[in-house]
Amino acid sequence: MEIVKVPSPILRKKSEEVKKIDLRVKGLINDMVKTLREAGGLGLAAPQVSHLLKIIVIESKGGKNKHGEERPIIPLTILINPKVTKCSRETEKDHEGCLSIPEIWGIVERPKLVTIKALNEKGKSIKIKAQELFARSLQHEIDHLNGILFTDKADLSTLHKIGPDGEIIKIKL
Ligand code: CO
Repeated sequence: MEIVKVPSPILRKKSEEVKKIDLRVKGLINDMVKTLREAGGLGLAAPQVSHLLKIIVIESKGGKNKHGEERPIIPLTILINPKVTKCSRETEKDHEGCLSIPEIWGIVERPKLVTIKALNEKGKSIKIKAQELFARSLQHEIDHLNGILFTDKADLSTLHKIGPDGEIIKIKL
């Protein structure tokens, strides 16, 4: 699937709840997982592939990120109609990027711990308590379902690209 990039207006729309996990939804989820893996990203939300539905997929195979930091492994997580039900007062700042805003990174401050309620791909109600990168990815992807991008929350003075030799190149949006 093609990943929608900024400034596409679809990225600013609110997604709708999934009413029924039918074959169409299952097909979309499979395509999203494939697209996420091909793009080498950490997470993908349905609006990023032009579907305004509350579906997100997250996966981390570990290894180093673009900043040379070790990423934890996050098993494939498929969530339908996810909602943040709790978040910690304690926050954490870290780099974020987005497949819809290619090659741009910035520091975003977010709650360190979150609790999420959602349905899994089988329609079973689940609750997830997440921390660190997993918590960050969940918040980033759920933001997409509300038309929010990480650049809305980032410290704009930290926005940068990474050059061919790993050098930080400051940018202004
Ligand atoms: Co994103």
